[in-house]
Amino acid sequence: MNINYLAQDAYLFPEPVFESITRQLDTYGLPWNSKELKNAVISLSDHFNQNTTKTTLWDDKKYQAAYLAYFFPLNLMRILSLENELKSIIQENSDIVDFGSGPGTFSIASHLLKLAFKNLTCVEVNNLAIKLHQSLLNDLNINQPIQWENQLTANNKKKTGIFTYSLNELKQTPPWLFDFETLIILEPSTQYYGRRLQELREQLIENKYEILAPCTHQLPCALLHESKKDWCHQRIHIQMPKPWLDFEEKLPMTNRSLTFSYLIASKVHRNKNAGLGRVIGDTQKEKGKTKQAVCRSNEREFLSWLKKYKNAQRIARGSLVELDSGIEKKSNELRVSLNVI
Ligand SMILES: C[S@@+](CC[C@H](N)C(=O)[O-])C[C@H]1O[C@@H](n2cnc3c(N)ncnc32)[C@H](O)[C@@H]1O
Repeated sequence: MNINYLAQDAYLFPEPVFESITRQLDTYGLPWNSKELKNAVISLSDHFNQNTTKTTLWDDKKYQAAYLAYFFPLNLMRILSLENELKSIIQENSDIVDFGSGPGTFSIASHLLKLAFKNLTCVEVNNLAIKLHQSLLNDLNINQPIQWENQLTANNKKKTGIFTYSLNELKQTPPWLFDFETLIILEPSTQYYGRRLQELREQLIENKYEILAPCTHQLPCALLHESKKDWCHQRIHIQMPKPWLDFEEKLPMTNRSLTFSYLIASKVHRNKNAGLGRVIGDTQKEKGKTKQAVCRSNEREFLSWLKKYKNAQRIARGSLVELDSGIEKKSNELRVSLNVI
């Protein structure tokens, strides 16, 4: 069997953005080595882990600083890792709405990715978050065709909607979500939000969307239906600047690898990866074999490398793989018998 895959290395944090964050933290009087910054990050992390919403987080400078120092860089990396997916959807004539834009995480990522679009409407309920976004754009010398609104208006619903860590701030899926032509949704990788996103996937299919990623197919989700606890999530590896790593060392949590759940769906674009498989799990070592979960249909399947063949591979999670139709299948294992080409 032959597998072709696109390997992904660690994603490097963009230095100019790190320098801008550092300048901003200095203006708050909360540099990287300040204890107050560390405590604010810990308490904001606790708040996010408790699944509570807090649109007023921006009203307190120490939480603005904490978001900018820790959560903004991680979300930026999550968005940057979806470069190929974003580039296949966002075009020069695209009208984009970033719902819950916060400090402009998507807008800055789109600049770094050189995404060209016609217009970006940032919908953000908190004006201090908007101010922070504007000050980052100024500091980074970024000019984008952006307008800000405090709430979603009817004109904005028929466009490409971006939701990065913002849909989870709404208690229920809003009915207007289905008015968007294309949806790009990133959510925290927890069992609750991950499975909620997989349920939303089914509603989107019912509402005439085609799922573009991470799924390569439109069949029911195997992780949702064949397991009560698993959820689909991506893991990327990141390389952060040294001062950020020193700061992170003082925190109770580490993020050397970064997880998130995501879904891209559209009423106008088509899935270009139909027929391929997506590696959706990390390498698992078992007696006599190595396995990795792969998704290509409504069946839970694993690529498996038997030890005796000495051909085990570690495929970057999220990679697309091309599987021979004649691949040997034993139970839920697809046996890889030859090396990658
Ligand atoms: C966790 S932050 C995410 C910010 C940004 N999208 C990111 O990826 O870093 C969620 C943002 O959604 C905003 N928000 C929550 N509910 C909203 C609503 N109903 N309308 C507009 N913005 C909202 C919050 O103020 C906050 O800035």
